[in-house]
Amino acid sequence: MKKFGALFFIVIISFAFVTITDSLKEDPEFIAPSKQRTGDAKKGYNYLVTGDYLKSGIPYSLFMMGSPKDTNNYLGRTGNNKNLRHDFTAVKAPNGEEIVAPNCLQCHAQVFDGKLIVGLGNSLSDYTINRENTALFAEKFLKNLTGENAKKYEAAKNFINSIKIIAPQLITGTKGVNLADGLAFLLVSHRDPATLKWSDQNLMQMPNEIIPTDVPAWWLLKKKNAMFYNGFGRGDFGRFLMASNLLTVTDTTEAKEVDTHFNDVLAYINSIQPPKFPKAINASMAVQGKNIFTANCSNCHGTYGDKGTYPNLLIPESIIQTDSSLFTSNYSNPQMVDWFNNSWFSTGDHPAKLVPYRGYIAPPLDGIWVTAPYLHNGSVPNLEGVLNSKKRPKYWQRNFIAPTYNYDIPGYDYQIKDAAGNNEVYNTTLKGFSNEGHYFGDNLSEKERRSVIEYLKML
Ligand code: HEC
Ligand code: HEC
Repeated sequence: MKKFGALFFIVIISFAFVTITDSLKEDPEFIAPSKQRTGDAKKGYNYLVTGDYLKSGIPYSLFMMGSPKDTNNYLGRTGNNKNLRHDFTAVKAPNGEEIVAPNCLQCHAQVFDGKLIVGLGNSLSDYTINRENTALFAEKFLKNLTGENAKKYEAAKNFINSIKIIAPQLITGTKGVNLADGLAFLLVSHRDPATLKWSDQNLMQMPNEIIPTDVPAWWLLKKKNAMFYNGFGRGDFGRFLMASNLLTVTDTTEAKEVDTHFNDVLAYINSIQPPKFPKAINASMAVQGKNIFTANCSNCHGTYGDKGTYPNLLIPESIIQTDSSLFTSNYSNPQMVDWFNNSWFSTGDHPAKLVPYRGYIAPPLDGIWVTAPYLHNGSVPNLEGVLNSKKRPKYWQRNFIAPTYNYDIPGYDYQIKDAAGNNEVYNTTLKGFSNEGHYFGDNLSEKERRSVIEYLKML
């Protein structure tokens, strides 16, 4: 009887222990779907690459003086667009002037092995240059025009005003990372939430630093019930898709018009398929890899193939342990979330809402072979490093002019450096750049990891 009592005691203790450690680790959180508008993918694509979601920009003639004619015409566009790089669009400003404005493909397309992949996050962008002087030059030049030509300045004014203010604040020391989150913050800080009217004055406090990110692939969104790495984009996705319009928008009448196209843009984004792995895959290893993946990874990342499933989970900080700067900034600087949730974007019959969370969404892994570098901040150059944290370089450099890709363990070829260096070196000791966390592959054997990688090439 005495023995039995002791056993009972041990059971109670260990039960209590399990509940205490469990309560330190919160559970992943399921994201419920929100209702989306339906749309026409073909119309959405046309609008994306030829549409006037930015209604202010650099006059076409001036733009062509400053940048060489692009002869690739990857998108097969016609008219003035034929001469522009894929990430700029020629449109007519409301006053009839021909202008050129940047489009979404600045960040959401990349030339990969000689082909343009629309929807691939651009991992080669360069925010290390301050473009303020270009804007000042354009302003000076256009302001001196007279007569009929004065309309050129009118058509460029909103664009130049934004760039002048944004350019000096949107700079990072590292190539390849994207500052779109900082850009969004800057844009809303100069706009009234209800009327969207621009103010040269900053209307809210900016955070001390801008947190850089990688850019997620567009083909993943069709599975996701929330937008963005931290899953805080809820409600009508079209409202977030159109947010680039904040760069130049005049008022809510314009925003309403632009909004009527973004159900179509969403339909287009949802129609994009990931590119297939172009080389041979070791089939028997991939079969083993699939089993290992199902046992170790599917709970968070889902299953693939015809009857694929996707659990739509937010993974809390205590479990994922990757760099927390991106989501913690929503708590230390809640101004942007507050602005958005009290703005025009959160009104009407298809509102959107930002719901912060301390952690990240476990993303779908379709086309994962092509989307290096990895993790939300692009801190890990290849899949081997994602699965084995000991293989993650602290300082690493890649080539931005002639990047080469490793198809064996998918990711960018890179050189390990001893210390921080020029702007092509990724420095994981900087705030927001850490390569820690996501240790789920560490317990696998080397052979198991290789098999998982072989399987990942098939997704
Ligand atoms: C300056 C670069 C930039 C531009 C321009 C840009 N985006 Fe993005 N976009 C990003 C980055 C970076 C993210 C990820 C931000 C995050 O999750 O914190 C993102 C996220 C997204 C997502 C969410 C994907 C997901 O899986 O959660 C969609 C969809 C999207 N953008 C569509 C668009 C569209 C449509 C346009 C043009 C109207 C556009 N973007 C313009 C950089 C950009
Ligand atoms: C507990 C949930 C969870 C488990 C288990 C898990 N992951 Fe993840 N995974 C995540 C989250 C969350 C992220 C995003 C983290 C970030 O970006 O900071 C992620 C990111 C990734 C990425 C990078 C995605 C990108 O686009 O950069 C890959 C690749 C990946 N996981 C593969 C795996 C594999 C393979 C396994 C199994 C060995 C696995 N994961 C197990 C939650 C999980």
